[in-house]
Order: sequence, then C-alpha cells, then structure tokens
Amino acid sequence: MSLWTSFADSTTHYTGLSPTAFFTILAMMIVTYKIVCGMFVAGGDYMEVKRTNEYVIREPVQLGDQVTEEELSAYDGKDPNKPLLMAIKGQIYDVSRSRMFYGPGGPYALFAGRDASRALALMSFDPKDLTGNIQGLSNSELETLQDWEYKFMEKYVKVGQLVSSHRTTQEAGQESGDKNENAQGNEAE
Ligand code: HEM
Repeated sequence: MSLWTSFADSTTHYTGLSPTAFFTILAMMIVTYKIVCGMFVAGGDYMEVKRTNEYVIREPVQLGDQVTEEELSAYDGKDPNKPLLMAIKGQIYDVSRSRMFYGPGGPYALFAGRDASRALALMSFDPKDLTGNIQGLSNSELETLQDWEYKFMEKYVKVGQLVSSHRTTQEAGQESGDKNENAQGNEAE
C-alpha cells in the first residue's frame, strides 16, 4: 500500500496529474497507438511485401505466337526476374508496370500468368472462370471482355499470343476475330 502511495505521490509530483488522470491519459495513448498501428502493415510484413515486389521493369520481350499456357504460367509474378504477363483472348500483354494489381498479394494476382478472358467477361473471381475459353458467353459479356481488351491494348505492350488462341478466336466468331485484328494492328504501331 505504501508503494502505491509513493507511486501516486511521484506521479503527481512529476506530471502534475492525479493518478486517475495519469492512467486515463496513458490508456488513451495506448489505444490510439494500437489503432494507428493497425492501419498500417506490420514492419516485418512490410519488408516481406517489399522484397517480393522488388523488381526491375525491363523492355518487354516478344515471345512469339506459339506460347503455351504452361509457358505463360511461369510469368505469374512469383519470379521477380521475369516480366509479369497476362492474356486476354489469347493475346499476351506485359503487365509488369501494374505489379501492384497482378503481382503476388495484389487484388488481381489470380489473373497473372494466364488467360483470364472468361473471368473478365463475367466479372468473376471464381477459379473455374480463370480460363481463356469464352464459348457460350452472351453478347453483353463479350462486350465487357472487349472493353477489357481495349483497355489492355491501350495500356500494355502485347508480347505474344497463345497457341490455343488460334482455335479459340475462330470459335468465338467474327465479332471477336475483328477485334483481334485490331490488336495486331496496335502491336505494329
Ligand atoms: C467491388 C468491386 C470492385 C472494385 C471496387 C474494383 C476497383 C478497382 C479499381 C479502383 C481499380 C484500379 C483502376 C485503375 O487505376 O485503373 C481496378 C482495376 C482492375 N479491376 Fe477491379 N474492382 C472491382 C471488381 C473487379 C472485378 C469483379 C474484376 C474482374 C473479375 C476486376 C478486375 C480489375 C482489373 C483486371 C483491374 C486492373 C486493370 C489494369 O490493369 O489497369 N475488378 N479495380
């Protein structure tokens, strides 16, 4: 008890505050500290994320028009020495500059290293839609996909074409085929 009394006296002496006021302010400072810390990534995690996302943006490398899905999957951003690639309707784009979207831990990392046309057309994150198969889509879904393709053509460099896309493009019909011609025209610029 005398220990508490001398502690209370010292608190009042050094801070000018009553013990109750002192502990109330201390508790508020701790809570504020916790809330502010909670708004940011923990120090260790931050370093880990930073390390994973350390990369050098290089000149896009052309891969040709016979890229297999397996080859494309090696460009999903897990290897910081490789560019980050993604395909729409079989056309492969270098999306390295948007690593915050498609890189590991990014909100759209699931699209990286693959043709995610179906998912984009349906605005879906369902793993079963992570495919370049666009058969059976409605006109409005194909239009949504088209908008994505235009966005990619405008923003990223096309670096190749999937082997399977030669078949898929024909199956998807004239509408899709026309736009792919545009994509190739864009590439030539
Ligand atoms: C709650 C729903 C969603 C919100 C609030 C949202 C928000 C955003 C925002 C703010 C951006 C950045 C735009 C920019 O700076 O250019 C973005 C980009 C993107 N979103 Fe979403 N999004 C949502 C749903 C979806 C869905 C369902 C998909 C597809 C399945 C999708 C695919 C994408 C893609 C691919 C990009 C990156 C485009 C690029 O490379 O520039 N998003 N989203």
